[in-house]
Amino acid sequence: MDFKTLSAPKEGLAAVAADALLLVVTAAAPTEALPGPLGAALKAAVDAGDLTLKAGQQLYLHRVAGVKAARVAVAVAADASVAAWRKALAAGVALLKAGGTRHLAVALAGAEPTDAHAEALVAVVADQTYLYRHTKPSAPAASALAKVSLVADKSAALDGGLRRGQAIAAGQTLARELANRPGNHCTPTHLAAEAKGLAKAHGLKVEVLERKDVEKLGMGAFLAVAQASHQPLKFIVLRWNGAAKSAAPVVLVGKGITFDTGGVSLKPAPEMDEMKFDMGGAAGVLGTLRAVAELRAKVNLVGLIPSCENLPSGRSVKPGDVVTSMSGQTIEILNTDAEGRLILCDALTYAERFKPAAVVDIATLTGACVIALGHHRTGLYASTDALAGELLSAGERGGDLAWRMPLDAEYDEALKSSFADMGNVGPRAGGSITAAKFLQRYAGAYDWAHLDIAGTAWKSGAAKGGTGRPVPLLTHFLLARAG
Ligand code: BES
Ligand code: MN
Ligand code: ZN
Repeated sequence: MDFKTLSAPKEGLAAVAADALLLVVTAAAPTEALPGPLGAALKAAVDAGDLTLKAGQQLYLHRVAGVKAARVAVAVAADASVAAWRKALAAGVALLKAGGTRHLAVALAGAEPTDAHAEALVAVVADQTYLYRHTKPSAPAASALAKVSLVADKSAALDGGLRRGQAIAAGQTLARELANRPGNHCTPTHLAAEAKGLAKAHGLKVEVLERKDVEKLGMGAFLAVAQASHQPLKFIVLRWNGAAKSAAPVVLVGKGITFDTGGVSLKPAPEMDEMKFDMGGAAGVLGTLRAVAELRAKVNLVGLIPSCENLPSGRSVKPGDVVTSMSGQTIEILNTDAEGRLILCDALTYAERFKPAAVVDIATLTGACVIALGHHRTGLYASTDALAGELLSAGERGGDLAWRMPLDAEYDEALKSSFADMGNVGPRAGGSITAAKFLQRYAGAYDWAHLDIAGTAWKSGAAKGGTGRPVPLLTHFLLARAG
């Protein structure tokens, strides 16, 4: 897809040469802002009761007299904010992406778009034109859409936004695609191969640790989860060196459970297929590395992905088993379905060797987080207010929102065990928080944050599929750190 900025011809939007024109108007005073044939058509539609100037409304018009573009869609936004623009675009692009539109021109009536509007436009188009084909080659032909132009007066200023949008969208699409691949295709070995391919294409360093390496490191918690599966575990290490060698890196740790049955603490059958998405954190790390490398961001970044399956078998770890983590702390595995924290804790200890500026782990960690926050905001935990603030505002900039959750010491008591330094679960109440408290016990050596993406990494139901979140949040966080 080709994204460009376009200065409107002096005759106005009606003269823009494109197959389709998407006009986003704000609910307040749009008709005055639009002179000429488009303004007349809009006024006529409103007068006829075919369009209400309320956020969320839209109208498709074919061959409007005096307008060069054969197809016109009008989408009403609540205001000129990026969030409202994003929503209106989603509705408008849906009306125009099918059919004969190859070149789509998009304009915001009555306000100048910013680089953030440009970035959001790319995100919406990428989202709406993505098609899963990996195990469904018969999927319908991709949309004919090949070129999208953002019409604006000062179009040069928006090129940066389009460029950033394209890198983020490519990373987000990668994360989404990997998450969508079924567990029998997207194995730990497959993720490792994808990481190697990514490294080769984008100038990253990559190293894949095997079982024997992980044994040597003493990652007893990770090994316990992986021990039942016939698929070999992988511990993927990726590096992007965009800053001076002396600059401490940010480390991203992504949960890479390529299928989570729960193990001996078996999950119920309904919706268990969705546990192929349990590598969403790993996918987010890969997607973010892609975006950061494509933008050649001046930051040092390490991606760590512990990856394995969580299965029941005669070799499975059992409830009550005690394992020794790489940190030396012992863990009583009371529930084998709380496996994410077990593979992450060893990766958090491994992260110490990079003397990181900050470590952020990303995981589809708890069903409890879905109960707490639903599917809109990611759960954010952070050891410092400054890091929390950085991540929250990065989410705002990327349209990929998070919400801060507490880490009070009182929650830690739930992890007490009679037979080990800690159990791996607490009671049902506050389950997302106790999972974070568990991880915090391994993250004392650096500034640390944890993103619980259980509610945001994928969608269920008719539109089932990965979202590629939190690639926009993480990329904005890193771009801000890169200065
Ligand atoms: N991958 C799941 C978390 C999950 C469940 C994400 C459902 C999205 C939807 C994780 O490994 C898990 O099973 N967590 C348990 C923890 C519990 C045993 C303390 C959970 O949330 O039920
Ligand atoms: Mn589980
Ligand atoms: Zn899991």
